[in-house]
Amino acid sequence: MTKRKDHWERVYSDKSPFEVSWYQNEPSVSLRLIENCQLEKNEPVIDVGGGASVLVDRLLEKGYTRLAALDISSKALDFARNRLGNKAQYVEWFETDITEFSSRRQFSLWHDRAVFHFLTDPGDREKYVEILGKTLRPGGYCIIAAFAVGGPMKCSGLNVVQYNAEKISDAFGGQFELIGETGETHITPAKKEQLFSYFSLLRK
Ligand SMILES: C[S@@+](CC[C@H](N)C(=O)[O-])C[C@H]1O[C@@H](n2cnc3c(N)ncnc32)[C@H](O)[C@@H]1O
Repeated sequence: MTKRKDHWERVYSDKSPFEVSWYQNEPSVSLRLIENCQLEKNEPVIDVGGGASVLVDRLLEKGYTRLAALDISSKALDFARNRLGNKAQYVEWFETDITEFSSRRQFSLWHDRAVFHFLTDPGDREKYVEILGKTLRPGGYCIIAAFAVGGPMKCSGLNVVQYNAEKISDAFGGQFELIGETGETHITPAKKEQLFSYFSLLRK
């Protein structure tokens, strides 16, 4: 097991998904931004580092038919699959480190809440953007939610990189156009405030 996988498996063994700081009852901002993209319901959508989030459940309820969820942690994916029960068969599940992901097909929308910001190594960020470029179709949308500048410096005991519009544009380079930015103050289960920024990018 790699150090990174080991960390996340431990997190999901030690805590219930309802106790982790990033827990959301409803992923409202993500859902609004995804709906704003006005995709057809049969276009492929992937939640990268989805963990135990209910985003896939909500997208299934909204009628999306080609959903995928990816996470490095088998425990997080098991939790989401068990919660969905029979409906889990309508989601494609990938257990992998995103920096090693390769997909046979392209997606129309890529959603990442609080995963990219853990990539503190520039080489990992380059790999992520390269994989995103291969995996998202031209004209597809990418929504990245990260701690905002002024937000927390750490999450789950790991350092993060905080982002604003300029830093995200620099990280994603010329293949992507930043088309929107939305702020959110997330309240953790321990009632702490965390400043997030959600960036919507268009693959040129
Ligand atoms: C802060 S949590 C966010 C979970 C979910 N996106 C949400 O909003 O509830 C980060 C998630 O990313 C996963 N993760 C962390 N690094 C990863 C990587 N390199 N590749 C894939 N998944 C990763 C973790 O297992 C965890 O589920």
